[in-house]
Amino acid sequence: MILLTGGLGYIGSHTAVELAEAGYDFVIIDNLSNSKIEVKDKLEQIIGSPIKFYKGDVQNEEILTKIFTENDIDAVIHFAGYKAVGESVAKPIEYYDNNINTTLALLRVMRKFNVKNFVFSSSATVYGRAKSMPIYEDFEVSATNPYGRTKLFIEEILKDAYVADNSLNIALLRYFNPVGAHKSGLIGENPNGIPNNLMPYITRVATGKLDHLNIFGNDYPTKDGTGVRDYIHVCDLALGHVKAVKKLETAPGLVVYNLGTGTGYSVLEMVNAFNEVCGNKVKYEFAPRRPGDIDVCYACPDKAEKELGFKATRNLKDMCESSYNFEINNK
Ligand code: NAD
Ligand code: UD1
Repeated sequence: MILLTGGLGYIGSHTAVELAEAGYDFVIIDNLSNSKIEVKDKLEQIIGSPIKFYKGDVQNEEILTKIFTENDIDAVIHFAGYKAVGESVAKPIEYYDNNINTTLALLRVMRKFNVKNFVFSSSATVYGRAKSMPIYEDFEVSATNPYGRTKLFIEEILKDAYVADNSLNIALLRYFNPVGAHKSGLIGENPNGIPNNLMPYITRVATGKLDHLNIFGNDYPTKDGTGVRDYIHVCDLALGHVKAVKKLETAPGLVVYNLGTGTGYSVLEMVNAFNEVCGNKVKYEFAPRRPGDIDVCYACPDKAEKELGFKATRNLKDMCESSYNFEINNK
């Protein structure tokens, strides 16, 4: 049985579907701070059976103890946390508190119940401004904002925990840019308020909820002057977690993987691809660069392919179509 913290969120919910398809049992804890209880019903529709769910805070060791007592947990996938870069600058204490203390609480309760396998949602943000592209797992890490620092600190905490207890198996998964939605259109990315990230912003322009997209910068040293990122379909990313769980079953110790496609697309390429799918509904204007942005960021995905057997297969069209489908379904 696998415990998914934050399992009703964007990446957690898609991972739940892939785990079910691969035959794994799981239980979810989520405090609904950035998700809705309806996601549970949607997941049950997709999977076709009831889901075991606990509403609660991962910082609360009493509820964690109850979960570990009532279920035979053998691995934890830790998605729960806050993730908005801008908000983390305004609320650093809340970010350090939630992201780090959830991890510590889990480690303590895992130790109590002798649970050894842990998958952590890290981010390509830990590479800061990488010296060259593509990005390899052994590149230097750094952070430019409190959110990124929580990821960096948690990676360090997990490395220390592993040094102290070599029987732990820990996978640090560094996600590049997850986009897209499940093909059913039932689950997807549904941020509160005005989205910060590119794809949810585009989908809201395409459905008339927002007037136009501001493209942040058209003077970067890239193919067309706009920023380049490694967008990965969330269902591919979800499959990466199934592969990571399988890897931990072989007791590999602490392992680090990029989860990306290895291909970088520019903002303009994303807009053009989306416009082909939705019939040219995405208007845009060029705007100044966004502070803190980097020009290019894409992964070398080879290590995950070689050691996990993981390779993203969904293309840009799949990413755009599924995002649009979800947005229309949730209008
Ligand atoms: P999300 O906000 O959709 O999901 C996180 C879930 O955790 C939410 O359902 C929220 O209610 C829950 N949660 C937060 N704090 C909690 C707590 N203390 N107790 C219980 N539940 C709690 O985010 P996501 O996009 O699914 O991201 C999942 C993880 O992946 C996060 O750790 C995030 O930092 C990381 N990540 C995300 C991206 C991305 O682009 N989405 C990129 C890199 C890394
Ligand atoms: C951002 C975070 C990163 C985090 C990731 C999670 C910043 C600086 N970085 O990455 O730490 O891990 O989200 O998904 O916030 N863009 C526009 N117009 C928009 C929105 C975005 O042009 O309205 C451009 C950006 O300038 C960038 C690209 O689209 O070139 C992707 O942006 P975004 O989706 O926010 O992701 P990242 O900046 O890569």
